[in-house]
Parts: sequence; structure tokens; C-alpha cells
Amino acid sequence: MKRIVALVSATLLSFTAVFAQTFQLDVNLKKAGAPVQTTQYGIFFEDINFAADGGLYAELVKNRSFEFPDDALQGWKAFGKVEVRSDGPFERNPHYVRLSDPGHPHKWTGLDNEGFFGIGVKKGESYRFSVWARVPDGGSSTLRVELVNTASMGEDHFLCQETLAVVGKEWKKYQVMLTPDTTLDKAVLRIFLTGERTTVDLEHVSLFPADTWKGHENGLRKDLAQALADLHPGIFRFPGGCIVEGTDLATRYNWKNTIGPVENRPLNENRWEYTFPHRFYPDYYQSYGLGFYEFFQLSEEIGAEPLPILSCGLACQFQNDDVEAHVHLDELQPYIQDALDLIEFANGPTTSTWGAVRAEMGHPEPFKLKFLGIGNEQWDAIYPEHLEPFVKAIRAAYPEIRIVGSSGPDSEGAQFDYLWPEMKRLGADLVDEHFYRPESWFLSQGARYDNYDRKGPKVFAGEYACHGKGKKWNHFYASLLEAAFMTGIERNADVVHMATYAPLFAHVEGWQWRPDLIWYDNLRSFRTASWHVQELYGRFRGSNTLSLKMDGANVTGAEGQGGLFASAVLDGSRIYVKVVNTADEARDIVFNFSGLKKKELVKAAGGVRLSAGADHLDMDNELDHPDRIHPETFDFQGEGKSLQTQVPAYSFSVFVVEK
Ligand code: AHR
Repeated sequence: MKRIVALVSATLLSFTAVFAQTFQLDVNLKKAGAPVQTTQYGIFFEDINFAADGGLYAELVKNRSFEFPDDALQGWKAFGKVEVRSDGPFERNPHYVRLSDPGHPHKWTGLDNEGFFGIGVKKGESYRFSVWARVPDGGSSTLRVELVNTASMGEDHFLCQETLAVVGKEWKKYQVMLTPDTTLDKAVLRIFLTGERTTVDLEHVSLFPADTWKGHENGLRKDLAQALADLHPGIFRFPGGCIVEGTDLATRYNWKNTIGPVENRPLNENRWEYTFPHRFYPDYYQSYGLGFYEFFQLSEEIGAEPLPILSCGLACQFQNDDVEAHVHLDELQPYIQDALDLIEFANGPTTSTWGAVRAEMGHPEPFKLKFLGIGNEQWDAIYPEHLEPFVKAIRAAYPEIRIVGSSGPDSEGAQFDYLWPEMKRLGADLVDEHFYRPESWFLSQGARYDNYDRKGPKVFAGEYACHGKGKKWNHFYASLLEAAFMTGIERNADVVHMATYAPLFAHVEGWQWRPDLIWYDNLRSFRTASWHVQELYGRFRGSNTLSLKMDGANVTGAEGQGGLFASAVLDGSRIYVKVVNTADEARDIVFNFSGLKKKELVKAAGGVRLSAGADHLDMDNELDHPDRIHPETFDFQGEGKSLQTQVPAYSFSVFVVEK
């Protein structure tokens, strides 16, 4: 409540009695509250918006194995005498191309690859070109490999060129490094027969930057992986989302197809290829080059607990009304076995079947999997029916694994009300809630978790984002309301154990869904205001909650609270107080710290603030202005049992206080 109070300011106005309209926030330091889980804030990865191939996965060649089903040469431009054949060396990707003499000395045979919206390359950096090849009739054959700018007005097209000699009848992997002399976001990879033009076979044509995240050969785009690490994530959910379910069961995410040598991981149709008729992407497939091994490895490298989500045998329920689209209960066993095998793949000894596969791939140590989700956004009785046998089998074999169930696609309503008790009945450890909701919803949900059942499953707020009404793009105001909502997550850390914004990534030329956390083109990327909100929560996570009240009530943007949302946590001798001001005017605030010994004082130790200014609420960062909105430190000083300050209109502030 607003109050007229006499203040002895600990900061600007020390020892001067002033009358001011202030909001009193009472922080009780007597007792540390619930532990804040290390998994509290994390990331949700789904291959939507070209997040994997064309995004985080650093492969630059599209359709590298000539397996796109509508056209084996989709993404390629063939010239001269090129034949697609299907008895290649990789059983699950059998297609390859044969390049032969075009039959005239002034004709040429070769292939151009267009990449994902072009191939982005940087001047002076090295790119590893590799290809499996053979000379079917024996002897040797010479290839020219180039990165070209087909739009160039220059004397020649190439940014760099190398020759590659292929020798012998056996399939072998060849490699050559390319170093372009120009930076270009839409280069083309060109390969053509030269020299004697001896017939040659090519398979799995690949191009990676040498400089990937942590230097892995089958690696990740460095700037994008860094943007994940910089969030300080505690949990990493993968591989989605609806992609887990598939438009039909045949196209569901099948983790077993995503491990082992990349050359033999079969292609999958990406369910986001045609989900939205207003944004078709007919060349959207999953190479599975970024597969479960890579996801586990990335979790480890960014310090987050892995949280895989597996199909429960239900195809996407938004897209399938016919019950026959789903697996019958009596045919569910292979799906259950997939879940058990995944746990063995992650954690099993190297002597176990799947543990040996992990070791063979280069990680003999277990990945220490603790959490497993079964089903994505499922609903109706068919979901608990399918989930139950999974729970029984996992509990029997791996009682230590914590199982994540779902409350469906809605933040409230009939399915939500039905599924929560069902999850409790089945003994799910966590329930995955999803909410893509407008401003009004976020403004009204500050107290959402304050009265949740403390004895039931914990909450995993597994997909959420503020979708502005009529403003379904990234903008600062939406991120501010996410920050406001997250004060309720923080306050209720005893019941909300995980929260992940969604979706994570989007290519500016390939998106199906927005807003998203991180955007990029072929060379650049930027972190949105929502990213900065997540980063601040991750950075100032703390170890335990602290009670923070205004007139004895939680600060949830409720009537009379001046549009303020607030929460506090303890971190050793530090206290982090988060205050979100959603109002259009600044608010004067006094923090009152109780629970201190008589002579004990607290000391303000600065703060960090995210704000765009009242005139820029619809604005966000963009490729040309990647850092327009970012947190800035502010002056917050003083000592006492109370500290006075002010929060600007439309701002998210983290105050640091020392005991
Ligand atoms: O994040 C995009 C989609 O939203 C997810 O795939 C799905 O779970 C939800 O409907």
C-alpha cells in the first residue's frame, strides 16, 4: 500500500527527515527460506525456426547426404553429368552422387550447394571441407572445391579454391581446409571435376567452421552456444516441444537415430516444415547431426542438468484427431524400452549395451542424467494411460530418475485441472506447464504459485513467453512482464523447480514462431531483452528465498501495489532483491530489513537494471543493433536497517545488499 511515511534515508538523504510517498518492501533476514534449486532457470531447445540445421549445429551444407525425400538434389544445383545413386556406403543414408566427364572439353561437371539461406563465411577463418569419396573404376580423380560469390561483379567468383585428389576404389573420407579472402553471408560451395575428369563418387559432403564451440569437429556455432552458456543455465531441456511427438509417429523425434557416426544418422522430416501454411519451409529436415550425444555433451559444457523429453507414443494431438494416429497401449513396449535405453545410454557402465555406445562416441564417463520427461504437451485420458506404464517401468529399473509429466498446452482450464491430479496420482516428480500468453495474463499471474499444493509434484514451467496482443514479436515490454512473472517463480522456489523460456532460437530468414530468445542470420546473432531477463535471473539466482512483503502481502502487482512485483534471495552474505516496475511512472521504495541483530546493519552494494525507456517499449535488439537493450549497473549505496531508492518506470532492477 502507498503510505505517507517519515523516512530517514540510508542513501541520498541521510539524516534528513523527509516526507515522501513510498512503497515499503519488508525483507526478513531472520530465516533463509526454501533452497533455490540449481535447476531453477534454464533453457529449452527445440529444432524450430532452423534452430539446429542452419542454426546451432555448425554444418554449412544443406542436404549433405542427398537424402531429402522429394528431391535428392534439393539444396544443390548440378551441372554437367551428375547422377544420383543409392547403393552408398552408409546403410541408413544410401544416396550419393556420381560425377562423370560431361563429354566435351569445354563442358564441366559439378555441384553447387546453397547452404541454409546461403553459406556464411568470414574472411581469413578456416573451414573444414570433408567428403566421402571413391573412384569407382580405380585410379585417381581431381576435384576443385571452392567457396564462391555467384552475385559478384568481380573478375572471378571464388573466395577461395583448393584441389582435392581422390584415390582408389574404396570409400574414404577426404578433407581440405578452405580460407576465404572475403566475408560473405551468402556464399555457395562449389565442387567440380577437373584434370582428367575421371568419374568420382561423392557422399556426405560437409563444411564446418574450424572454430566451433569447444572445437568439436561435429560442432556447434560458437556465438550461439556462447549465448547459451552466458545464461548460466541450470537445466537444459531438449529436443523440444512438439518435435518430440512428430506430425505423425513416423516423424517423431527418435533419439536412437541421432547417435553414432553422423554419416549414418537417418534424415527426419522436421514437423515445422509445414505446420503453418502461412510460413512453409519445404526444405526443413533434421540431419540429426546435432543429436542426443551432442545435447548431453553441451549440457555438461554449459553446466546444466540434461532434461531429455521422449515420445510417450502419442503423435501431436493438435494435428491428429484420430486415435489410430497414436500407439495402442499394448504396442507401447518399444517406446518404453527407448526410455530405459536412453537412461542406460546416459548413465550406464561402459560394459552395458548403450553405455558402450556412449563410450564409443567418446564419453566413457556417465552423463549423470537425473531427469526425464515423458510426453510433451499431451492431454485427455489417453495421456495418463500412456504415461503410467512408463512410470512403472522407469521406477522399477531406475528409481532415482525424476520423471516429468505434462499439464497440457494450457495454463489453466479443463485439461489443466484434469491433468494435474492425474500427474499427482501417477507420482510424476515434476509437471511441465506451458503458457504463451498476452500481457494481461502475465500481469495477473504474479501470485500464481503462492498457493500451489506443497505436497504434490513440483512445477517445471517448461515453455513460456509473453506474446503481446497484436504484437507477436520480441519487444521490451513483453520481456519486462516475463521478469515480473518470474518474481513469483523465485518466491515459490520450494514448488517451482525449473523454468525455461521458449522457443530458444530463430533464424531471421527461417522462423515459424516468435517471439524467441536468440535471433541470428548466417554470420551475426543478437540476444533479446527476454534473454537479458533470463540472464539476470540466472546470474542472481541465489541459494535460498527470503520473505519479501508489502504490508504483509507478497508483491505481485496486486491492486494498490503500484504495478510492482518483487522477490528476494540470499546468496551467502549477499541479498539480491529483484523489483519490476510495470507502471508508467517511477516508484520510490524503501527496503526495510528485519531479523537483524540490534546493531547489525546492511549495506547497499550496487545494482543492475534492464530498461528501454518508456518511449521504446515496443523495441528490442536486432542484428544491426545487437546491444541496444542491455542491463546497466546503477548506483545504490548506503547503510542501515532501511535503504531508500527509486525504480524508474518500466524497469527491472536487481539490488545487491550485503549483510
Ligand atoms: O515452442 C513452440 C511449441 O509450443 C512447442 O513445440 C510446443 O510444445 C508448444 O506448443
